[in-house]
Amino acid sequence: MIDVAFTGAQVQPADTAVVIDVLRATSTIGLALASGYERVLVAGSLEQAQALRAPGRVLAGERRCERPEGFDLGNSPEETLSPRGPELVLATTNGAPAILAAAAAATEVYAASLLNLDAMLALLSALDGDILLVCAGTDGSATIEDTYLAGMLSAALDGPRSDAAQIAEAVAAAYPRPLDALDASIGAHNLRAVGLDADITFCAQESIISVVPRLSTTSGDVAVVEAASDVRATAADPESAGGR
Ligand code: MLT
Repeated sequence: MIDVAFTGAQVQPADTAVVIDVLRATSTIGLALASGYERVLVAGSLEQAQALRAPGRVLAGERRCERPEGFDLGNSPEETLSPRGPELVLATTNGAPAILAAAAAATEVYAASLLNLDAMLALLSALDGDILLVCAGTDGSATIEDTYLAGMLSAALDGPRSDAAQIAEAVAAAYPRPLDALDASIGAHNLRAVGLDADITFCAQESIISVVPRLSTTSGDVAVVEAASDVRATAADPESAGGR
């Protein structure tokens, strides 16, 4: 069965959970791994991220879309294109908690974005068992951009679908281009309000990386995410991602 959780609060047990925060956490995680970070430590709070600071770790995150004081990077994917160390620590408002919720409920957890769409589909197509597509949403509410990608993934996979998955597919079918869906979302509204319009266009790109981020371990309020696959034949490298 393919099912969709429209917010992180709707996560339920599943064989496989695929967390989606198109704007911007799962886009950032995917691009960071594609760019050469060895792993991303997803932290449940800004305080948790600060506590993880250590040599070789780069702190990234956002509050109300902006870089928190004392952090090295914000949550713009392109900020990860030149790794400043082997590990990225990431704390965000909705995406990070959704990953931690999925980690507590599912056997396998992956992170999807438009950036790794083809690679994500290739991996999911080969799996058995139930797949729960987990939209991070924004501040506890469903969002267009995450539902849109959940619908794209659901529509491309074989197997029975829940009503929620069919709703997501209808949302995906309603927008001619990814950018149309992203532009209409509250996430894009919030990014435009702080001058981060370029992130919307960047995150609307399809299949420019081949990395699928996969949860490897959790420890308390920290989820460690590493690359599950890197099918270079299917997509461009991160240099071309930055060189649009
Ligand atoms: C989140 O996790 O809430 C988002 O990634 C917010 C953002 O756009 O930075």
